[in-house]
Amino acid sequence: MRFDPWNPDFVAHPYDVYADLRADGPVHHFDKTDQYLIPRYEDVNALLRDRRLGRSYLHLDDHSVFGHEPEPEFQEPFWRVVRAGMLDVEPPIHTRLRRLVSKAFTPRMVEALRPRIKTMATDLADALAAKGGGDLIAEVAEPLPVTVIAEMLGVPEQDRPYLRPWSADICGMYELNPSLEAQHTAARAAEEFASYLRDLSRVRAGNPGDDLISALTQVGLTEDELIGTCVLLLNAGHEATVNVTGNGWWSLFRNPAELERLREDRSLLPTAVEEMMRWDTPLQMFERWVLEDIEVGGTPIPRGSEVALLFGSANRDPSVFAEPDRFDAGRTDNPHISFGAGIHFCLGAPLARIELIESFGALLDRGIDLVEEPTWKPGYVIRGLTELRVSTS
Ligand code: HEM
Repeated sequence: MRFDPWNPDFVAHPYDVYADLRADGPVHHFDKTDQYLIPRYEDVNALLRDRRLGRSYLHLDDHSVFGHEPEPEFQEPFWRVVRAGMLDVEPPIHTRLRRLVSKAFTPRMVEALRPRIKTMATDLADALAAKGGGDLIAEVAEPLPVTVIAEMLGVPEQDRPYLRPWSADICGMYELNPSLEAQHTAARAAEEFASYLRDLSRVRAGNPGDDLISALTQVGLTEDELIGTCVLLLNAGHEATVNVTGNGWWSLFRNPAELERLREDRSLLPTAVEEMMRWDTPLQMFERWVLEDIEVGGTPIPRGSEVALLFGSANRDPSVFAEPDRFDAGRTDNPHISFGAGIHFCLGAPLARIELIESFGALLDRGIDLVEEPTWKPGYVIRGLTELRVSTS
């Protein structure tokens, strides 16, 4: 098998192909997307930190060498939202936007949320156990991070059911070569989400509460920046966490001895959660534009190209991880790349860690068993389950 993000067999199990790519060389041109695939840990890690690459090229005066075709008009609502958030801008705008919100996500700030997160996780686990089981994705994995980030931003309870579909539709654009239908769906979702947040932020600007949207209306952001920041926080604030919860349980079910080990020793929860993120990486790939000529392992990559950093492959690189294909709940030397590196390193990492530890802890207390093989989302980049049916004992 070869690298083929549209082949369901590759998507289901990309790790053997990654091993071949790593062994074959540091750079592989992928004709179908005209990208350079980077499979080795050392290179992925270095390129994420290298300022000669960027998530965007729009800040350069002569950016005409970048990009392929002009974006269709109908995509405008999507790009408007995405390009206003910190993830798709470079310094100095990135530095300013990140500084404004980072205070709310420091380890100390999110540690203060732990009791509330623990209560929520326990309530969700209790509700699942009261029915003898159900779909772990819909009943636990989704509601926990969605509620946490919605409460932080101050999204009213009755509006929270919209967040998950908006996020899922927008994320459709992050798959490689999305279909025309997916592009339209993403544009529609971005437009609706932006319009919702515009109304909500105007209300909060006039009558601020004790929440992040209210705070952000007071710090001098443009309206686009405010909306772009809120969309990014609300989407990034739950999407991958939902997937790590589902993928993580599936990893434990496939490694029953490790599940047993964790049941017997809860002090392993922090290392187990890191291992889940490494072993079945929730975001398999991130892209960067090459803003100046570079060389990777002796292979030149010209300015104007795009590289695809294979996180899922980097996380199984034997030159960094001992026995990389083994799931080891107690792995201590685990510098996985799943939260990224460099200036865009995940702002929500401390929050995600607390949510995952509390969620797995609460469910382990209830005794969870697998009922049937789960179903996967079709996409390659965003790796997650649509359903995971479990029983409780
Ligand atoms: C950025 C992963 C949870 C907010 C990133 C990046 C990765 C990532 C890989 C960097 C992307 C790049 O460099 O191109 C994850 C994973 C999560 C998670 C695996 C769950 C296990 C969260 C949560 C939040 C969050 C809970 C809550 C606020 C962000 C933001 C950025 C980001 C705002 C952009 C940072 C910047 O551009 O400076 N995340 N994330 N993430 N993440 Fe997360």
